[in-house]
Amino acid sequence: MSEAQLATSQKKQRPHDAALFFRRWLSNPLQMGSIIPSSPKLGALIAKQIDKRSSSLILELGAGTGAITKSLISAGISPGRIVVVEIVPEMADHLRAKFSQTSVLQADAFNLPIQSLKDTGTEIGTVICGIPLVLLNEAKQRQFIQQVEAVAPGRGFLLYTYCVTSPLPHRTLGLDAQRLDWTPLNFPPASVWHYRPKK
Ligand SMILES: C[S@@+](CC[C@H](N)C(=O)[O-])C[C@H]1O[C@@H](n2cnc3c(N)ncnc32)[C@H](O)[C@@H]1O
Repeated sequence: MSEAQLATSQKKQRPHDAALFFRRWLSNPLQMGSIIPSSPKLGALIAKQIDKRSSSLILELGAGTGAITKSLISAGISPGRIVVVEIVPEMADHLRAKFSQTSVLQADAFNLPIQSLKDTGTEIGTVICGIPLVLLNEAKQRQFIQQVEAVAPGRGFLLYTYCVTSPLPHRTLGLDAQRLDWTPLNFPPASVWHYRPKK
């Protein structure tokens, strides 16, 4: 079988993003936090926040079926700059098949492979969080913030959310918060927030 035929047959075998996403939601709704992947419009709003000329890495936590990853690449961000982390092995495999030039780590964002990320030798400029942090208790939210600080000190993270107000109790958590954008073109309508440690 030629490489092109192999690629076509793999593409056919790949489960449809929405179907895989919904199946995972049925098996663990709190871990998924949404029944369908994010929209291209929401992905574009996140991509807008990233410096396209920089060579720093973009760490995407909770990549799912890669809706945001795809938008970043479509916006002109080099796939080699992106490192995605996804806890569900089946979804991590799906991401590897879909984004051959992007690093895919099947890992828990609350227990990141910190040393491996440092060993890349390239600093992480942006952290994007797709994990439904709003559904977690404060101790877990603090643990998440510590993990982000360990790999991208002072950078904070972009968080997209369906909440109307801040999804995180940012003052209690010692974070500055800024709502950067909003779109009705997502189900449910979503906002993009930037949280970063108070100076
Ligand atoms: C709301 S979905 C977002 C998926 C995708 N980024 C999107 O916008 O369509 C949340 C994703 O985070 C993943 N996730 C949840 N907890 C995680 C954890 N502790 N570490 C890594 N990924 C996690 C879920 O498996 C799911 O794929």
